[in-house]
Amino acid sequence: MKQTTDFLKMKETNEKIAMVTAYDFPTAKLSEESGVDIILVGDSLGMVVLGYDSTVPVTINDMIHHTKAVKRGAKSTFIVTDMPFMTYHLNREATLTAAANIIQDGEANAVKVEGGGNVIQMIEALTTSGIPVMAHLGLTPQTVGVLGGYKVQGKTAEAANQLIEDALKCEEAGAFALVLECVPKQLAKEVSKRLSIPVIGIGAGADVDGQVLVFHDLVKLGVDRVPKFVKTYADANELISKGLKEYVREVKSLQFPEEKQTFTMKQEELSTLYG
Ligand code: KIV
Ligand code: NA
Repeated sequence: MKQTTDFLKMKETNEKIAMVTAYDFPTAKLSEESGVDIILVGDSLGMVVLGYDSTVPVTINDMIHHTKAVKRGAKSTFIVTDMPFMTYHLNREATLTAAANIIQDGEANAVKVEGGGNVIQMIEALTTSGIPVMAHLGLTPQTVGVLGGYKVQGKTAEAANQLIEDALKCEEAGAFALVLECVPKQLAKEVSKRLSIPVIGIGAGADVDGQVLVFHDLVKLGVDRVPKFVKTYADANELISKGLKEYVREVKSLQFPEEKQTFTMKQEELSTLYG
């Protein structure tokens, strides 16, 4: 299994990091078998798997439950788990307890937290306690209420400078990597250049140290529309719905099951079955 230091090395040698989210045994297993470097158990879980409108309702127990399943499916892949909304803001003790639960019960290798500002001190508390932290700046979905919607961040010089400052503070606080979501490519490039830790982009252009996408967006599973920054590499919706419709049709038309999907009894047993 790769370690945080391997991701630093990948940045130094300019090998891009491929990260994808996964939420359960099959998505984790497929991700590991496909050679992804990092699996993120994202709190996007709330939207793409649990059907909520945002990531805000996701609980620490949801994250632990799903991280355990991911671990069983991807035993040799570095797993990062999102700390959910409001589990790393109240105080150090609550933050450390929540992260410890994710690492100990969920068996994640690291946690991810969103935002700069007061979150920086939590990153420091976590890393000095031995818990690797991935930071997350730019569009931070947990604070979508404050940001006023899912929009590109850091478009003005002022906002961009603030983001660069926050990014440097995340690195200084001990984060081993930074997710940068939905920012102009010029800003992402600058952040990646200024930081020695890898910058993993989503909607941040190509001039960063790695990419992350949401599993269900990437293979078009259960989602109808995907954001501009997503490239869909497969159409699982089409594949699965074709199979399901065929199944329903065959059940109704008595084409399923056939002999080969059916068990039989021996003739001599049958004679006694009816008494
Ligand atoms: O929850 C998630 O899927 C994420 C990624 C989009 C980075 O945080
Ligand atoms: Na997330």
